[in-house]
Amino acid sequence: AQVSTAEFVKSSTCTEDCPADSLPDFALVGRSNVGKSSLLNSLVRRKRLALISKKPGKTQCINHFRINDSWYLVDLPGYGYASAPQKLRINWDGFTKEYFLKRETLVCVFLLIDASIPPKKIDLEYAGWLSQNQIPMTLIFTKCDKRKKKKNGVKMPEENAAEFLNLISEYFQAAPPWIMASSVTNMGRDEILLHIAQLRNY
Ligand code: GTP
Ligand code: MG
Repeated sequence: AQVSTAEFVKSSTCTEDCPADSLPDFALVGRSNVGKSSLLNSLVRRKRLALISKKPGKTQCINHFRINDSWYLVDLPGYGYASAPQKLRINWDGFTKEYFLKRETLVCVFLLIDASIPPKKIDLEYAGWLSQNQIPMTLIFTKCDKRKKKKNGVKMPEENAAEFLNLISEYFQAAPPWIMASSVTNMGRDEILLHIAQLRNY
């Protein structure tokens, strides 16, 4: 399950404008700055295919990347970015959620959660929204390379992830699949690509 070709296809701001060739979509969503674009680059082994930034709010459209000429990785704008103008944020949130509800070729949403910090309410709510709308989801815990010495209540990525899974269990009859990842060490890369390959064969 390796990537041999990856090419940017187009940026869209509504579902109708997305590629119409009916290849399956695998979408990356999560809070601004959680590492969506970095994960995409890690998965395809390219440094700058998707643009990344230290400042949140970098990705502002629905970006389709065609992989191996047979499926799409879709990079989406982040949610919860407080500094973007209110109107822009509402717009991103609107077309992203509409994309989840309307895109018929969407196979799975990867909801990225920063495992270097304790669970955030906005992420729990987003997982709840996806679950309520029966949108297939896999959780990806990002930044698992950030392992500070345990002091002053700073927790390890595994502990933050376990706490998150515990808190969202009320939204799910069965817990969603989850994968620990890092774009710095490429942890999780093979597991995510294998997961995609398995989902495509269903
Ligand atoms: P938006 O497009 O603004 O929503 O952000 P994004 O989710 O696409 O995040 P992006 O990939 O642009 O990364 C944001 C910042 O986090 C950058 O400074 C990255 O270098 C850093 N980062 C991303 N992934 C990791 C990771 O796995 N580990 C560490 N330590 N830093 C990461
Ligand atoms: Mg981005």
